[in-house]
Amino acid sequence: MTMYDDVGGDSALERVVSEFYERAVRDEITSSWYRKVTNPEKFKSHLCAYLAVVLDGPELYVGRSMRHAHAGLQITPAAFDAMLALLVGAFDVTGMEPELVGKVHSRLQRLQAAVVNAPPPSGSHDHRHL
Ligand code: HEM
Repeated sequence: MTMYDDVGGDSALERVVSEFYERAVRDEITSSWYRKVTNPEKFKSHLCAYLAVVLDGPELYVGRSMRHAHAGLQITPAAFDAMLALLVGAFDVTGMEPELVGKVHSRLQRLQAAVVNAPPPSGSHDHRHL
């Protein structure tokens, strides 16, 4: 039994993604990106297929790599954190167990380095000195 089966397969992921997208186009931080998506239906179906792979389901994702898909989008660390919170939060429509949602969260968190391609705005306080 994979996490993909646990969550309820494609129909559940479609509900997650549609809920995520509605929240993302309204969110103060993420809306400026998601309102510019050229083909929302295609984007949503690609995100579903991508999530299916992340949840150990069918490997049917045929879109671009995460690095390539986000190249040029100027994604800051804060935008990544906001997006991830919305995406993981959208799993609440499925009733998936919090422990499994936590696992999905940590798998998606690993994509940070591939997706983030802009520094935090200058003047923002980052004490990590990385
Ligand atoms: C774990 C994090 C993320 C995942 C798994 C993810 C997943 C995806 C996928 C699967 C696509 C479609 C790629 C394609 O069609 O070839 C995509 C496109 C896109 N993503 Fe992300 N993404 C993530 C983070 C973000 C963040 C943080 C932002 C901005 C705040 C963002 C903004 C976009 C936009 C605007 C597009 C569409 C570009 C276009 O119109 O073609 N993504 N993402």
